[in-house]
Order: sequence, then structure tokens, then C-alpha cells
Amino acid sequence: MIVLGIETSCDETAAALVKDGHQILCSSVASQLAVHRPFKGVVPELASRAHVERINDIILNTLGASRHPVDAIAVTTGPGLVGCLLVGTITARMLAWVKGIPVVGVNHLEGHLFAGLVEHPTLKPPFLGLVVSGGHTELVIFKGYGRYARLGATRDDAAGEAFDKVANLLGLPFPGGPSIDKAARHGNSAAVSFPRAWIPGTDDFSFSGLKTAVANYLHNTPARTRAKAMDIAASFQEAVVDVLVKKTLDAARSHGLSSIVVGGGVAANSRLREAFLKAARVKGVRVYLPDRAFCTDNAAMIASAGYYKLKRGLHRREKLKVNANLEVANWSLR
Ligand code: KG4
Ligand code: ZN
Repeated sequence: MIVLGIETSCDETAAALVKDGHQILCSSVASQLAVHRPFKGVVPELASRAHVERINDIILNTLGASRHPVDAIAVTTGPGLVGCLLVGTITARMLAWVKGIPVVGVNHLEGHLFAGLVEHPTLKPPFLGLVVSGGHTELVIFKGYGRYARLGATRDDAAGEAFDKVANLLGLPFPGGPSIDKAARHGNSAAVSFPRAWIPGTDDFSFSGLKTAVANYLHNTPARTRAKAMDIAASFQEAVVDVLVKKTLDAARSHGLSSIVVGGGVAANSRLREAFLKAARVKGVRVYLPDRAFCTDNAAMIASAGYYKLKRGLHRREKLKVNANLEVANWSLR
């Protein structure tokens, strides 16, 4: 079964063709970085307009990449920016109607975990999933396809949001995650001892205190040199990585899970990847990290998640009704 995936939840217009949930035939992503960079963040109205301008070309190019007909469509329905989601869902519905093929809606966070599954067809549930993106930090047990138990989430800023905001404080370009990742490679991660919010007894996270600690530190000790800014970037990054890795491994142990899938834009972070792989070796668990290109938003992960929903016949319930759904942050979309 060939599924066309469509992803427009935030600032990437993406389409992909995935065969049988795992074979990526084509994956295209049109970035809107240039549109949002002057504003140091994603401007929702501009993002929706940019999706409208790009979506037809992206889909046509993707469809042109395969000689085989598309059997079904999977589209991100939420969480995300409502105007952006509407562009994707309306396009998906229209295309499904014209072609007379089924369409299913996919939760964007669920999609991020499928980025790990696409590349590892042998990985079977149950496993622990950590989604670390610009809008979410979520720890879930992936019990089976469509069966998720949410263990914890951020109580304030998402991990990616913290990277973006701290990069801004340091005068580094948007998006902040890749900028900090790059700057931190030349910095000393032990230079500043920033706080870690462990929130004992829960699987929740918190990053706003860390962000404030960096702001206060810069207020008292301005980073006047490039070297100092790199030290602060590395020390901040280390604090985020420390908490994400330790809390995830603790959750895996307490729930008896030996496989962990990490997804979302922050999963592209070099230090996080290194720390997860090292901790996995020490603790004897397997950590699955998608290829960097599939950590950030893409449509292959949506097509893969959609394939498993189609196999369960969920398109029959949805018919042509897929729509932007802002109430899916709790993994309620099955
Ligand atoms: O998953 P994603 O592409 O979009 C959302 O669903 O939000 O994640 C975007 C987030 C941004 O906050 C970006 O700064 C962060 O992922 N990010 C990174 C890296 N690459 C992207 N954070 C840390 N290190 C990176 N290399
Ligand atoms: Zn995302």
C-alpha cells in the first residue's frame, strides 16, 4: 500500500510517499525558515500563507516521484497551528475525493515516534517514546499501534522552545536548536552549572526555570566574547540533555521497557544523541534515533503512522471528515 503523507502543522510544508509503512519512496520538505527568521520565531499567519503557496508544488513533485498509484492519504490533523493544519487537511480531503481514495488523520506527536519506526521495521511495541519538539516534550508508553499511555510532559516550555529562547538570549540565529548545537561543539559544558528540574516522583519535565537561569546569568555576566557564549550554550545544552536522558532511562527501567524511540526536532541534537547512545550501552537498553532529517517535521512519519491506521480500518470512521483538531495533544486521536 502506497500512502501519500501530508504535513503542514507548523512551518514546514511536507509531502512523502511511503510504501507499506516503511519504504520511503520520496520525501520532500519545503522549509519556511527564510519567511520566519526575521521575526526570530514562527509567525502563524505567514506560515499558513506560505503553506498555501507551496503545497500544490510539493504534492505534485512527490506524486511524480512514483510510477505507482497512491492508495491512500494520511494528513496531520493536530496539534499545531490551526491555519496551517487547515491547509493540509483541506488539501488532503480534496485530493482523496478527486482520486476516490481513503484519507486518515494523524496526530503529529504520534507521527514523530513513527519517524523511528519507519527506519526500523523490526522494532515492535511495547516501547517507551520520547517526543522532544518545538511545542512538546512528551514521554509515552507505545503499547501497540494506536494504544498509548502518556506518562509525563513538560509543565511549561517544551525542550525545543527552551533551545529557541536561549539562542535568542545569546544572539544566535533562529531556529535556536541547530544554532546552540553548533555553538556548543566549541564550548565547555562544565563552564556554568545551570539548574536541572528533576521534579522527583513524576515523569514530567520543566525547562522554564533553566531558561530564566540563563537569562539571569547573562544579566549578571554578559557573554561579551564568542568563547563565553559558546560555553553558555554548551552548559545550557548539557542541562537539557542531562534531564531528558536520565528521566527517560528511569522511566524505561520503572516500566520494564528495554527499547526507547526518541523523535521530534530536538532528537537531531548531537549531544542528546551521543548521551542517549552512551546511556543505552551502560544500561543495556536499545535507543532508536531517527536519521536527523526525519527528526524535524516531515511527511514520511505521517504516511507511516497513517499506514497503520489504514490497516486497522480507521479511515472508514473518518471518511472525508478529517479536519484540524486542536484537542489531540493528549494522544487521544486513534
Ligand atoms: O519537530 P520539529 O521540527 O517541529 C515541531 O513539531 O515543533 O521541532 C522543531 C524544534 C525547534 O525548537 C528547533 O530549535 C529544535 O526542534 N531543533 C533542535 C535541533 N534541530 C532542531 N534542537 C536542538 N538541537 C538540534 N540540532
Ligand atoms: Zn514536529
